[in-house]
Amino acid sequence: MMLVFSALLVFLLAAIAQCMYMPISSNPRTVTTITPLGPAIGTVTAAGAVKYVVRYASTPMRWGAPVVEKVFLAANISDPSALPPVCPQNGYSPGQYSEDCLFMVLYVPPNTRPSASLPMLMWVHGGTNIMGSASNPGLDGSNLAIATQSIVAVVQYRLGVLGFVPPSTVGAVTNPALRDLIAALQFLHTIGPSLGGSTARVTLAGQSSGAGLIRALLGTPSASQYFTRAWLHSDPMNYGLLPPASLVPYQQVTYANISSPLTASVDDLLATYDNALNDLEQPFDLAGLEGPRPVVDGQLVQYWMQPFSTSYAPASQLLPNNLKALVLTTTSAEAGPADYADPAFAQPLPYVAFLPILESVLGEPRAGAVANSSYYADPSAANDPTGGDIRNLSVKVGTDQVWRCSNYAFARAYSARGAKVYPPAVASFCTDTSSTVCHEDDIYPVFGTTPSANGAQNALTREVQQRYAQWLLNGVPGGDWRGVQGNDVSARILGGPQDAGVVAAGACDPAFWGQSVNFDYQVFTS
Ligand SMILES: *[C@@H]1O[C@H](CO)[C@@H](O)[C@H](O)[C@H]1NC(C)=O
Ligand SMILES: *[C@@H]1O[C@H](CO)[C@@H](O)[C@H](O)[C@H]1NC(C)=O
Ligand SMILES: *[C@@H]1O[C@H](CO)[C@@H](O)[C@H](O)[C@H]1NC(C)=O
Ligand SMILES: *[C@@H]1O[C@H](CO)[C@@H](O)[C@H](O)[C@H]1NC(C)=O
Repeated sequence: MMLVFSALLVFLLAAIAQCMYMPISSNPRTVTTITPLGPAIGTVTAAGAVKYVVRYASTPMRWGAPVVEKVFLAANISDPSALPPVCPQNGYSPGQYSEDCLFMVLYVPPNTRPSASLPMLMWVHGGTNIMGSASNPGLDGSNLAIATQSIVAVVQYRLGVLGFVPPSTVGAVTNPALRDLIAALQFLHTIGPSLGGSTARVTLAGQSSGAGLIRALLGTPSASQYFTRAWLHSDPMNYGLLPPASLVPYQQVTYANISSPLTASVDDLLATYDNALNDLEQPFDLAGLEGPRPVVDGQLVQYWMQPFSTSYAPASQLLPNNLKALVLTTTSAEAGPADYADPAFAQPLPYVAFLPILESVLGEPRAGAVANSSYYADPSAANDPTGGDIRNLSVKVGTDQVWRCSNYAFARAYSARGAKVYPPAVASFCTDTSSTVCHEDDIYPVFGTTPSANGAQNALTREVQQRYAQWLLNGVPGGDWRGVQGNDVSARILGGPQDAGVVAAGACDPAFWGQSVNFDYQVFTS
């Protein structure tokens, strides 16, 4: 009876939605739109977009499969503009996070009719799979939605221990965080059209570990129907997807003293998971430095999404047959934050420090090959190993290994399979004046949220958003980006004085990274 009633209600609401294209306004700051899931109350942002904060799924059981929401529920009923609680993570008190965190924030251009058929973009934030939220700096999607005439959805998903390391004992699902993202896409398909979005043009975009999650979704056949193409920003592709056994040590440490994971306090789980990360994430333990991330479980994720086969990744399971067009961008000094966060980087590091630094990250055989390579020669120190300053050289190695060359290697393999892939480089305008924080600096130009932007930053934002607009609409990010051809990735610099022109491959030559010197996913066997 209840079911019949809801079905009737949905039918009626849908019928009402057909009859009117103008949202019902109750006051100038809020907008009410009829959706198949009931009335949606949005608020008008400073830039003029309409913002909806909505729960897309719930998780009846911790580590269980997400259940897609059937009713439109704001994060805060008395304040529809309020951003959702963040998913549990360190740095927040228990009152500030909630396990009920599967929300998305939708940004819709002003005066969009339900018939507008605008492209939709779902943004997956980064944060090493342990932190981040829709409230992160720069992630207000208003400007991006308006500039690209698209619907922007900034999505949250379970993080850390709750999203990636379920205990083996409680009947949990694999890859909870990825399942959240699929639920979010399903929800977007349901609600998007009533807000003026087209389900035929859904782009997934994300940054850093968020881009890595999208890579995993590209290897997930059951997710394929829900998106059309993807733009991966600064995906640390050096870290492959994981065999499920890689999680076992993390489970052992995390749950050693947790007798009842399903009822333990979130705070306790966060603390014991933190111990696991500290204990296990030394270089050369387990899967390298990046920690738990999606596993190729053979049920949900079925492809490794890497260019080279390894002991655990047979050639037949590297890439799916059905490949979507991709843009892969990296920034100019990705490893700056990782390196410059180290107190050792506060002062110049002489050339003698180079090999020990490399060994601590790469292990001896790889470190020697890198130190000896002409790609990373330091002419200023060649005759004086105690002089010079190798900090930027070290940033260059890290940038090449973790991001740039691993992306190039992937792009070549992907394109060899006949799919379109465009890998440009984004010049950084470092917003952290202290040094070289570059890894996240392309978020601002994408979202158009650079604080006190100067002329060059505004120009970069315009260019990136114009390319985004074309990408979202037709899958071509601008005529002068040729895309990968054979080994030639033809990456281009965007923004800054070096704008235009193709970037030299340098150490991303296929004979060097990936062949002479292996990526982490080629080195670690579990
Ligand atoms: C919801 O918003 C109201 C009004 O801004 C605020 O007073 C209240 O604390 C919020 N509730 C929650 C749970 O955040
Ligand atoms: C578990 O508790 C015991 C006893 O308090 C302690 O010695 C051990 O270090 C704990 N293990 C972990 C992984 O926290
Ligand atoms: C660099 O190459 C030389 C000559 O092949 C070799 O003797 C030396 O051990 C290499 N250095 C490192 C650090 O591997
Ligand atoms: C390192 O790179 C930064 C950013 O490009 C630059 O400002 C700085 O001068 C460089 N330092 C050295 C010693 O080359």
